[in-house]
Amino acid sequence: MTKSQTLSVFVTDLDNTLVGDPGALRELNSWLEDVRVSQGTKIVYATGRSLAAYGSLAISENLLTPDALIASVGTEIYLDGDTNTPWSLWEDQIGEGWQRSKIQKIATQFADLQPQPSAEQRPYKVSYYLTEAAAIETIPRLRQVLRQQSLAAEIIYSGHRDLDILPKASNKGAAVQFLQQQWSLTNGVACGDSGNDISLFSYDLPYGILVGNAQPELLLWYELNATERHYLAHAHCARGIIEGLQHFGFM
Ligand code: GLC
Ligand code: MG
Repeated sequence: MTKSQTLSVFVTDLDNTLVGDPGALRELNSWLEDVRVSQGTKIVYATGRSLAAYGSLAISENLLTPDALIASVGTEIYLDGDTNTPWSLWEDQIGEGWQRSKIQKIATQFADLQPQPSAEQRPYKVSYYLTEAAAIETIPRLRQVLRQQSLAAEIIYSGHRDLDILPKASNKGAAVQFLQQQWSLTNGVACGDSGNDISLFSYDLPYGILVGNAQPELLLWYELNATERHYLAHAHCARGIIEGLQHFGFM
């Protein structure tokens, strides 16, 4: 479409976005390794997974080591492959006013909220399973109760199954914005497939790619909010990312 342009940061969700089509992932990885050297492109993963769950995926899918890993739906940032400690600067920023145990207690009043395994419960993320049928009533009620108790929190529903409660100022998009400011980045693209990726498309990154297998909640967001900077691919997963990168003239 447009003529070839350089890319300062490539941000991508993992499950069902970067990962899911091994052949396309190999192609994309080799292109990313090239632009990392030739253009200094930063590679950032933004996943809902905890660090531990990311680790097993990184090994099984042979993922490139990113310049930054945004884990646990944006609430933790790990820099330069250092997976020991999350970036405290970011934790300080999102932690203010976060009342985890109060939120957990409130959630027990909602029978339809089934806690996810303890490994996915993180310092700044409380996660549940919630059916699509129950979500229609539960999410607005939960939002209302949190508001009544003056608990500033963000509720994110993804893939018609996962409900995350996070501190108000934290999600994948906010974490990317924080990195952009720290690194002074300008030209970037973000890729995703589900509800927890919506924030990636709502911040200042110039371009967004929605893979062809995007979940209904993201497609709905696209229908209501998309601009010419957002591209809904036909192809799925990494093949869809490649399609989008070509559409915007990066590849
Ligand atoms: C990942 C996380 C899970 C979260 C979901 C949606 O699957 O493991 O805890 O609820 O992403 O954000
Ligand atoms: Mg995903």
